[in-house]
Amino acid sequence: MNSDIILTGDRPTGRLHLGHYVGSLKRRVELQNSGKYKKIYIMIADAQALTDNADNINKVRSNISEVALDYLACGLNPEKSTIFVQSQIPQLCELSFYYMNLVTVSRLQRNPTVKNEIQMRGFKQSIPVGFFTYPISQAADITAFKANIVPVGEDQLPMIEQTREIVRSFNQIYAPVLVEPKAVLPENETCSRLPGLDGANKMSKSLGNCIYLSDSADEIKKKIQSMFTDPTHLRVEDPGHTENNPVFIYLDAFCRDEHFKEFWPEYDNLGELKAHYQRGGLGDSKVKKFLNEILQAELRPIREKREALQGDVPAIFEMLKKGSENAREVAANTLHEVKKAMGIDYFG
Ligand code: TRP
Repeated sequence: MNSDIILTGDRPTGRLHLGHYVGSLKRRVELQNSGKYKKIYIMIADAQALTDNADNINKVRSNISEVALDYLACGLNPEKSTIFVQSQIPQLCELSFYYMNLVTVSRLQRNPTVKNEIQMRGFKQSIPVGFFTYPISQAADITAFKANIVPVGEDQLPMIEQTREIVRSFNQIYAPVLVEPKAVLPENETCSRLPGLDGANKMSKSLGNCIYLSDSADEIKKKIQSMFTDPTHLRVEDPGHTENNPVFIYLDAFCRDEHFKEFWPEYDNLGELKAHYQRGGLGDSKVKKFLNEILQAELRPIREKREALQGDVPAIFEMLKKGSENAREVAANTLHEVKKAMGIDYFG
């Protein structure tokens, strides 16, 4: 075991989908099961979700157990990882309050993720202050647990950079109590930014282009059949493009050589399949059928596990409660050190 501490999390604004799965969930489970890490914290970021859902608490509330079910179904194990709910750790607010003094408005305005999200949400001049400052609260999430490793998708890199700056500035002004984290991205670029079924955008629930971990076998099949492919590949004989073709992007993310042996022995590997598609003479429906076999095999065990667990939601909340108690203790220790470093521990 090493001394690394991992923290990561998700906003509970919907069930988790294939983009979350390849972009981070799968990796988290591998890291967890490697047994190499000192501590692993997985946070359901409900308070962050509220920063742009203040009038939509039911959405956030109801998705807490959905996300927890997705976690457990994918193999996160509360015996090995501390799974907790952000709003139940009040120390995070206190830390954010002090970190706010270390960040300028212009620095937040330049944060590319915040900029992009403000645009996507159409906030214009009406940006909720909580939303605008969520990178600071995210720094509190990470530093409260002294996490040095944060496995995330590439859109989160500016958040980690912002956290690192806060840590450096805190440690320099007060005392070196905080740990500078580093982001860990999925190994493969495709997985870092899986496109949606439309191929045009990242997979995202707001765009309705997702395959969910909880989708039925039938839903998955229908969604794959409806996927965009190469628009210039009109007839089977036509040469096709595999680049920017979402069906092939998904194959890049999921297909392994064994899948050919099992489902399509005419080819040995993805290279051969792509070459045939590019030459022409290979229809999209055959490729989609293959992709369907692969995704069904990958998602079936997850769905079955989820179905078995979802009958007992109180047990899910009990697990989250225990995890949150555990997390609160760790965050309280860090807060104590932070206040001491700042000299605001007036009464001992
Ligand atoms: N911002 C992350 C997302 O939208 C969720 C999140 C909140 C997070 N706090 C975090 C991720 C801390 C990593 C570390 O997915």
